[in-house]
Amino acid sequence: MEWRVPLADVNLGPEELEAVSAVIRSGWLTMGAVTQAFEQEYAQFTRGAYALAITNATAALHLACLALGIGPGDEVILPSLTFVASANAIGYTGAVPVFADIESPDWLCLSPRAVEAAITEKTKAIMVVHYAGYACDMPTILQIARKHKLTVIEDAAHAVGASLNGKALGTWGDVGCFSFFGNKNLTTAEGGMLVTDNPEIAEKVRVLRSHGMTTLTWDRFKGHASTYDVVAQGYNYRMDELRSALGREQLKRIPSGNARRGELVALYRQLLSEEVPALSLPFQEERGQSSYHIMPALLPAGSDKHAFMDSMKAQGIQTSWHYPPVHRFSAYKDAYNCRPTPLPVTDEVAAREVTLPLYPTMSDEQVGWVVQAAKTALVAL
Ligand SMILES: Cc1ncc(COP(=O)(O)O)c(C=O)c1O
Repeated sequence: MEWRVPLADVNLGPEELEAVSAVIRSGWLTMGAVTQAFEQEYAQFTRGAYALAITNATAALHLACLALGIGPGDEVILPSLTFVASANAIGYTGAVPVFADIESPDWLCLSPRAVEAAITEKTKAIMVVHYAGYACDMPTILQIARKHKLTVIEDAAHAVGASLNGKALGTWGDVGCFSFFGNKNLTTAEGGMLVTDNPEIAEKVRVLRSHGMTTLTWDRFKGHASTYDVVAQGYNYRMDELRSALGREQLKRIPSGNARRGELVALYRQLLSEEVPALSLPFQEERGQSSYHIMPALLPAGSDKHAFMDSMKAQGIQTSWHYPPVHRFSAYKDAYNCRPTPLPVTDEVAAREVTLPLYPTMSDEQVGWVVQAAKTALVAL
């Protein structure tokens, strides 16, 4: 289908093409010098001590859990209003994801108060999700974590280039995990990055990412090592040089790309408040610097969301839903209903939320088309 305005679009140019071609010409395709350079640049970008490139953010979250010693018998508290990968990563370790509610229909991030209420003697960690690239209340979350001796994982899949009080999201907790999937602010097609200030966590992740081996093929090629030991049952969660080359170029586009996203969000806010006031827009509060990954809007309570989305589609506008809440999925309500917690804010927001198109190459005119289409779609409901 030809969309007049798609939900998201990539921002790739000749620089990415040349960087990937250079890797192909070099003849070294797997994890090596380009990945190391990407990691160093990403560490500088976030001002985190260690950045490790991982095959995707789901794998990064899995490694984060393992490196923090999360396993069978443990509980990890996270929001249900997230992509299922956040919860899956916890489940892979044998631990139980425990869902807690979000702050409010205005701030769609994990509520510190709900976290505190969900803590039991089995709780080992808190996994926050910086929804759409807007910051969770990290000072309060960290205070709770310290009080109860819990570790903190940041699912920063949406938050490339976002910060709170000048500190990059993904560097507040023990570990932060970023996604470079095809629709993200920085894309390597598939890919991710794990950031930490803790050298022991970094070393565990480095080993687990590559089969539990103590050296890489690259180290042996460079003559730095001739053999290896296997010190843990690890995984193949490595990044390759083609993707890293793409990532290095994409990283350079983040400041201008995120700034353009911010301008588009401001335009949406202005036009929607004038033309479609019935649509409410979360994240009104000033809290840090967002990466503006997506543009969520809330329909009036009781509206038929699918009728709205169908009408937008008929007008050539692609919309989406972030997210069907994880605790409502068949696999989750059956597997993890041992401690059902009511999540009224999550359920309300999930019923009303629609995501409007947002990407840095979007024009002001296209924002106008989306706003007019939303007006038409709402009148018809
Ligand atoms: C909040 C969140 N967490 C985790 C992920 C998983 O990222 P990846 O696709 O890189 O594994 C995504 C991807 O969309 C996401 O949106």
